[in-house]
Amino acid sequence: MKAQLRGDYSRAGPDYAVEQDWSSYTPAQHALYRRLFERQAKLVPRYACPEWIDAIAGLESAAREIPKFHDVSRRLRSATGWEIVAVPGLIPDDAFFTHLANRRFPITVWLRRPEEFDYIVEPDVFHDFFGHVPLLFDRVYADHLYEYGKGGLKAIRLDAVKMLARLYWFTIEFGLMRTAAGIRAYGAGLLSSGGELGYCVDDPRPRRLPFELERIMRTAYQIDRYQDTYFVIESFAHLMRETAPDFTPLYARIRDLPLLHS
Ligand code: PHE
Ligand code: FE
Repeated sequence: MKAQLRGDYSRAGPDYAVEQDWSSYTPAQHALYRRLFERQAKLVPRYACPEWIDAIAGLESAAREIPKFHDVSRRLRSATGWEIVAVPGLIPDDAFFTHLANRRFPITVWLRRPEEFDYIVEPDVFHDFFGHVPLLFDRVYADHLYEYGKGGLKAIRLDAVKMLARLYWFTIEFGLMRTAAGIRAYGAGLLSSGGELGYCVDDPRPRRLPFELERIMRTAYQIDRYQDTYFVIESFAHLMRETAPDFTPLYARIRDLPLLHS
């Protein structure tokens, strides 16, 4: 792992799991989390996909304080078989994919600092929880992420993680969906962003292209500013269908092609 990561990795097991240690969060941290939640709560009715909105209704306590992972896991297990595993922060690809392939979603335990209210480089508990967890209650999305985990382990064997990571970026993190009400966000990086959530739906500048697997895997992404290009799915079933074929021949065909700069 890169030395500059913020989390405390000293107590992590080989799968990078740690205890959440919920009682160690301070009242100020719960209050900061609540402020982040309240800002996004004003935006999501207009900008989030319906699956996300349906799920958050069942997670009332997540609006008040940093959630207790054990409690949410209990409900997730009965809904879609998933659970949350607490981690110190970003973890290596093989550990990450192994968790997903066992229906465990890794969530960072620490919260950003107050001065990072608008922007944070590494994902924190607010991004991880608010952006990712509600959608794990949707059966199709949940199954897709499990398939992604298995596909990730396969991509490691095929030396194709970079190509697969672009798919994750343009779907799970920054994906848009067409709905009856208009374009909506389902990507976690959008759902947890104070600025980009409105931008990705309303702003005339970015391109919103139909989902196209090969194009996505060849598109370079920006980690430090709003995206220039988003890809739009029709539904989670559409995403599931488009990603079901064996990627092995696709990886072989595109691995040496130049990247497209979006
Ligand atoms: N179909 C992919 C493969 O063969 C696996 C996958 C499924 C990857 C869903 C991402 C999402 O590698
Ligand atoms: Fe994320």
